[in-house]
Amino acid sequence: MTDFRSVPKVELHLHLEGAAPPGFIRALAAEKNIDLAGVFNSDGSYAWSNFAEFLVTYHKACEVLTGPDEFRRLAEAVLEKSASDGVIYTEIFIAPDICGGGDPVAWGEYLAALYEGAAAAKAAHGIEARYISTCIRNLGADKAENAARLTVDHAGPMLTGWGMGGEERDGSAADFVRAFAIASEAGLGITSHAGELVGPLSVEETLDYLPVSRIGHGVRAIEDASLVARLVADGIVLEVNPGSNISLDVFPTWGAHPIDALRGAGVKVTVSTDDPPYFHTDMVHEYQMLARTFGWDAAVFSEINGTAIDAAFCDEDTKTKLKERLTS
Ligand code: ADE
Ligand code: ZN
Repeated sequence: MTDFRSVPKVELHLHLEGAAPPGFIRALAAEKNIDLAGVFNSDGSYAWSNFAEFLVTYHKACEVLTGPDEFRRLAEAVLEKSASDGVIYTEIFIAPDICGGGDPVAWGEYLAALYEGAAAAKAAHGIEARYISTCIRNLGADKAENAARLTVDHAGPMLTGWGMGGEERDGSAADFVRAFAIASEAGLGITSHAGELVGPLSVEETLDYLPVSRIGHGVRAIEDASLVARLVADGIVLEVNPGSNISLDVFPTWGAHPIDALRGAGVKVTVSTDDPPYFHTDMVHEYQMLARTFGWDAAVFSEINGTAIDAAFCDEDTKTKLKERLTS
């Protein structure tokens, strides 16, 4: 089996808090004397058994991230791990509702710390990062609009995208038209989670109502051939997270995952890890499993990473430099 660790990789879909190593969260809990009952299994891994429980554990673990400095330390730890897996560029989801609870002053302080963490990781490990600010779907449209306004106020070289995560089974993409318009009009790159827990209809609504160039997951589109054709025709890029989907039982096995079929149909697919410690994965594991399951070789991974750079929410100069690093 090829050692994929040294293969340069581009990751477009990674939740900052969801990438927190359990040991990092446990150490902060001890430091701050915070009780995290229920967050961990006896083997030290995150405890959850379905998507709703995953979200509960995720937000409970966030209780130890009490201020900007904890987020700086988290960003550095997450980027160090990504770099050690061969990731040269990553886009990280953050949320104003988690970083400062939607308060404008606090949000600015959290962002400054997050930029500091990314700069330190770049200096130490050469990894390039950008942040995508997100609303949390289950918090509703008003909070989403507030989050979008806070995001636009700080749009810049490091805060380059806007998206939506959270409970996909709550509400419709139509509820978030205003929030996405605020972000899109400011020139931010736009993505949204859809087609993960809900079927093709949620992908269709996202394309109908939100100005996305990318979709987080989108894999349930495979259930509707006309929707797959629409993704191809519109050049929509999917941020696919196969290990996450299997862990959450969206598909029963790696062999049943549609990433290869979507690629075969002409959809632009990329590979990411979503919330890697929660789903017992990392980028090296994803590449190993894709190679083992679908026979993906260096040429396919090179194509996937090229697609990811083209779809990245960063400036052209950075894209050129990343493409040089992919081929050198
Ligand atoms: N937030 C963190 N991980 C998520 C996922 N996989 N889907 C939706 N929201 C999330
Ligand atoms: Zn996600």
